[in-house]
Amino acid sequence: MSFPIQECSARRQQLMTAMGEGVAIIPTAPEVVRNRDSHYPYRFDSYFYYLTGFTEPEALLMLIAGKTPKSILFCRDKNKEREIWDGFRYGAEAAKTEFGFDETYTIDQLDVVVPKLLGNQPKLHFSLGADTQWDTKVINWLSGLREQGRMGISTPDEMADVRKLVDELRLVKTPYELGLMQRSADIAAGAHLRAMQKVKVGKMENEIEAEFLHEFYRKGAQAPAYTSIVAGGKNACTLHYNANNCLLNDGDLLLIDAGCELDGYASDITRTFPVNGQFTAAQKDIYELVLAAQVAAIDKVNPKNHWNAPHEAALQVLVQGFIDAGLCQGTVDEVLENGSYRQFYMHRTGHWLGLDVHDAGEYKNKAGDWRMLQAGNVLTVEPGCYIRPADNVPEHFWNIGIRIEDDVAVTKTGCEVLTKAAPKTVVEIEACMADVRSG
Ligand code: GLY
Ligand code: MN
Ligand code: MN
Repeated sequence: MSFPIQECSARRQQLMTAMGEGVAIIPTAPEVVRNRDSHYPYRFDSYFYYLTGFTEPEALLMLIAGKTPKSILFCRDKNKEREIWDGFRYGAEAAKTEFGFDETYTIDQLDVVVPKLLGNQPKLHFSLGADTQWDTKVINWLSGLREQGRMGISTPDEMADVRKLVDELRLVKTPYELGLMQRSADIAAGAHLRAMQKVKVGKMENEIEAEFLHEFYRKGAQAPAYTSIVAGGKNACTLHYNANNCLLNDGDLLLIDAGCELDGYASDITRTFPVNGQFTAAQKDIYELVLAAQVAAIDKVNPKNHWNAPHEAALQVLVQGFIDAGLCQGTVDEVLENGSYRQFYMHRTGHWLGLDVHDAGEYKNKAGDWRMLQAGNVLTVEPGCYIRPADNVPEHFWNIGIRIEDDVAVTKTGCEVLTKAAPKTVVEIEACMADVRSG
């Protein structure tokens, strides 16, 4: 992974300006044991990575704001023996020059160096409650400082959640980040196209999941951005289905929610298509409805609208469609008011996207209003419709589950759909599945 160091040092400068004064402590994520002495693949903390570009575990960033701002990294030292077993590590000396820090220390110097830097500072910017082990460490450093009160050393008067300041930065992507997110989106879109072309009646869901992993890794992504949902038939009506272990049947739809992570940045795409390459009339009716809702929602993605406008637009279209299909009764306003649409559409229409698949950042401003969309925001637009068998539902709709999800960047004048390369209309999907139909 290679982040331009200017990008990260500019972010640190921005953060220190926003802090005004005091010190920030931002640790990376711990390694997590999967079983006995085997670990899950390591994933750095997104806040730490955003500010450093540094991907090794056992690291911490400290920022000192004020007249002479300073950024300091603590990281693992070089270790010939460990590097034979586990691979390369930068070590404190190389990390300083390679990543552009003012000072670096080895992680085992933490308890000596941090209290010195923390003493006599007016404010501590730390995300209390995010990780109890770090909470304990910080509390111990502060108690140590308190004991030095008679020597004229004071503890910070104030504490603030540093993540809130970083969230505001993370919400507005730089051109560099948008470029990466486009590449992440392109890889995932290619994988969805591949899935449409590789699917066959009688294959297993996990065979199709494997096509995604193949395409993600082959194209340079480091990981799936989240556990892929590969849900045939009724499984699509389970929102977080990820067993991915069922047979794909003739006449069923296949809903796939899968995206990759490229240099830390997620893509998040859902496509729904017929296993045999051809929609039935009922499937097509619901699909066209969800697509119309998505088109209406994407149309609202621009800086003149607030966060919730796309969701509201999608709901209007879906609810009208549910009434027309006999799934809901009453007028659009009545159905919105009584919430009966939630039997078929029970989630919201999107979320911020970035380093985290459900990315950082508030959805409302301090006054409690939806925040206005802003150029550089990236969000998903993902309406759906999930119809479980029920007495109040015509049988030809039973077990149809459809979601259509794209990643959308807000521009100065409108928006850019990053994931448009993944086939989406009925015509596009059936055309790219022509070979599947002919066997
Ligand atoms: N894949 C997670 C989501 O769509 O929110
Ligand atoms: Mn999503
Ligand atoms: Mn998704």
